[in-house]
Amino acid sequence: MFKTETIEKRIDELLEKMTLEEKIGQLYQSGISPVGGFEISIQEAEQLLEAGRIGRKEYERLVNAASFDEREDMIRKGTVGSFIGVQNPEHANHLQRIAVEESRLGIPLIFGLDVVHGHRTVFPSPIAEACTFNDELFEKSAEIAAREASEDGINWTFAPMVDVSRDPRWGRVVEGPGEDTYLASRFAAAKVRGFQGDDLSVEDRICACVKHFAAYGACEGGRDYNTVDMSEAKLREVYLPPFAAAVKAGAATLMPAFNDINGSPCTTNKWLLNDYLRDELGFDGFLISDAHGIQECVFHGTAETPADAAEQAIKAGCDMDMGCEYYTDCLPQLLEEGRVSMDEIDRAVRNILRIKMACGLFEHPYVQKPEKSSKLCAEHRDVARDIADRSIVLLKNDGVLPLKADQKVLVVGYFGDKRNEMLGAWVISGREEDAISLTDALKEENIDFDFVPCIDSSITSMTLDKEQLEDALRNTKADTVIALVGESSFTTGEAQSKSKLELIGGQTEMLRMIKAAGKKLVTLLINGRPLAIPQEAEMSDAMVECWQLGIEAGHAMYDVIYGKYNPSGRLSMTFPQNSGSCPMYYNHMNTGRPASDGPWASKYRDCPYTPVFPFGWGLSYTEYDYSNLTVKTECDKLVISADITNIGNMEGEETVQVYIHRRRASHTRPVRELKAYKKVYLQPGETEKVTVELSRNELGYYNNEPRYITEESMFDIFVAHDSTGGLHSEIYF
Ligand code: NOJ
Repeated sequence: MFKTETIEKRIDELLEKMTLEEKIGQLYQSGISPVGGFEISIQEAEQLLEAGRIGRKEYERLVNAASFDEREDMIRKGTVGSFIGVQNPEHANHLQRIAVEESRLGIPLIFGLDVVHGHRTVFPSPIAEACTFNDELFEKSAEIAAREASEDGINWTFAPMVDVSRDPRWGRVVEGPGEDTYLASRFAAAKVRGFQGDDLSVEDRICACVKHFAAYGACEGGRDYNTVDMSEAKLREVYLPPFAAAVKAGAATLMPAFNDINGSPCTTNKWLLNDYLRDELGFDGFLISDAHGIQECVFHGTAETPADAAEQAIKAGCDMDMGCEYYTDCLPQLLEEGRVSMDEIDRAVRNILRIKMACGLFEHPYVQKPEKSSKLCAEHRDVARDIADRSIVLLKNDGVLPLKADQKVLVVGYFGDKRNEMLGAWVISGREEDAISLTDALKEENIDFDFVPCIDSSITSMTLDKEQLEDALRNTKADTVIALVGESSFTTGEAQSKSKLELIGGQTEMLRMIKAAGKKLVTLLINGRPLAIPQEAEMSDAMVECWQLGIEAGHAMYDVIYGKYNPSGRLSMTFPQNSGSCPMYYNHMNTGRPASDGPWASKYRDCPYTPVFPFGWGLSYTEYDYSNLTVKTECDKLVISADITNIGNMEGEETVQVYIHRRRASHTRPVRELKAYKKVYLQPGETEKVTVELSRNELGYYNNEPRYITEESMFDIFVAHDSTGGLHSEIYF
C-alpha cells in the first residue's frame, strides 16, 4: 500500500503550508466535457443545459472554449489538482510547468484519461479480451497501454472497469470482463499489475482507477445509470470481489459508480467508500467521483442543493470531484458553517497527495521525451494481434472451417471493410487508419474474394439491399460466403443500453438468402455484447464471435478462419435465447423447481431455458479429452486433478475450467461456481495433468447477516471445457 512514514511526513509539511483554496484545488479535476473523457457536441451541451444537468457557467465554458487556456490561471493559483483529457505531451508539460514553477507551492497536476483497452495500440474490448482467460495477456496489454499513455503525458487511467454484469442489455458490458466474479477478479488484479507495475514511480507506469464502485453492472433492466437494489450478501459475493482483488493488487485509485445501491448513491455511500473500502480492505489511495457524479446526487434526490451533495460526498470519502466544481463552490461555505471540518478536507487532500507522491510526480513532473509521443510500434502491434487471435471464440463449426487459402470466397455485410468499427467502444487515442478490416487482411494475404456489403447502414438501421445480394450470390464463383453481422460499436458502451438483442435490420434475412442460395455460410459476429441469435446460429455452417478486436481485428479474423491460429477463446458471457430471457447466466440458483423441459418447472413457455451458447463455451480445430478426475483433501485443501489430452490433429490451447457446487448450505447456492482455470498447450496426442488446489476459504459464501460461512458440505466438483458438462466427482469437505 502507499502509506509510508516518509510520505505522510511530507504530506504533513505540505498541508501546513496550504491555504484552504489550495487544499480545495487539489480536490478538483477539470476537463472539457461534462461526461468525462467523451467530447460532446454543442447540441448535446444545449440539451444538458435545458435539462438542468449543467449550469450556464459550464455551458458557456464548453461552447466558448474547447481549450484549456482559461484554466491556466487556476493552475497558477493552485485551484485545480488534475485534468482529464489532455493527451498531448507538450501540452501536458506546458500545464505542468505552470503548476510546478508558477504556483505558490509547486504541487504537480495529475493527468487522467480513459485508457481502457489500449492507447495508440488498440487491443480487443475487455469483454473480448476476457475470453482469452489469460492473466499474462491481461497484464501485458495494460503494461503496453501504460507505456504509450505515459509517453503522451498521462499519469492515470480510468481503468480497469471490473463491473460484473449478467445483463447484455447494458451497453457497458463491452467495457468489462463479463458475467463471472472469479474471472473478473483475476482480470482486475492483472490489469492493476499491468498498469502500475511494482513501482508506480517508474516512468512508463500509470495509476489505475478501478471502476465503477460498485454493482453498476446490476442496473435494473440493463438500463444504464439505473438503480440497484440487492442484499449485502449478494453484493459481497458477486459484485465486490473484483474490487477487493484490485485493491489487494495495489490499485492507487477507485471511482464510485453513478448508480445508487439500496437507495444510497455510490458517490455519497459512506458504507461503501469508507467502511468497506478503507476499513475492511485497507485501501489508502484516493477516490474520484465519476463525471459530475457529485452533482448527480441532486438528481438522485438524496441531496437538495449543491452544498448538500458536496457535504455528503466529502464526508462519505469521495476525495476528488470529476468536473462539477461542487467542492470548489461549496466547501468554503460548508467549512464556515461547521458542516464540514478541516479534518475532512485534509483527509481527502492527504489521500490525493499520497498518490501524487507515490507516482513520483514531485520528482518527475514532466514527460521526458515529448517527441516520442506514442507512435504505433510493430512490437505492440504483434501483441495486439496475438491477443485478438486468442479473444475470438469459435461458436459453431460444421466442418467448414478452417477455410483453404486457395478457395474463392464471397464476403458480405456492413462490417467487411469498416476499420473504425473494429476499434471498439472506448477508443480515445486509437486511429481508424491503424485498424485492419477483414477485407484489408484478405487482400494482404492474396485471398481470392469478392466483397459486396449488401447492407446500407446508418448505424441503427442496417437495411438489406436484396438486389445487390441476389446479384452477388448469382455472379460469384464462391461456394462459401463469409457474412459479417452484428451491431455498430457506436451503439455499445456508455448510455447505449438496448432492449433488443436480436440482429437489427435485414441482417438475418441476408443470412437466410445466402443459405437459400445453397452456399456454405460462415457467420462472423461483430458486437460488444452477447446477442440473441438462435436462428442465425442454426442456419450458419460456422459461427465465429469476433467482438470488437481493436487495430489487429482483420488479421485476427483471417488467422482464425484460415487456421493460422487454432481458436482458443471462451465466452466471458452467456448468449441468451432472446431479449426477454435476460438476464441469463450460468451461476444461477437451482430454485425449488429446477429448470427442465418437464411441467411446473422454472422455465419459459416460449423458448428453451438453456442458453444458445453458455459461459465458458468455445470450440477449436482440435479436440480435447478429459479423463482421470481425482478429488482429494490434503492439509485442509481440496486437490483436484484431471488429465487433458489433445485427441485431434492440430496443436492447440485448452482452457480447463474448475467449477464447484455446494450441495448443502443454510442459504441457496448457485448450480455452479467457477473457482479456477488453467491454460494447457498441447501437441496432437499429448496429455497433461492439470492440478488445482482450493482452500476451504475459497469455497465459502455469505449468509444474510451477512457473515462469511465456510461450513463443511458435500460438494460437486466439475472439471470442464465450459460451464455445462465436464468430468464430475463429489466429496465431503
Ligand atoms: C464517465 C464514465 O462512466 C467513466 O467510465 C469514465 O471514466 C468517465 N466518464 C471519464 O471519462
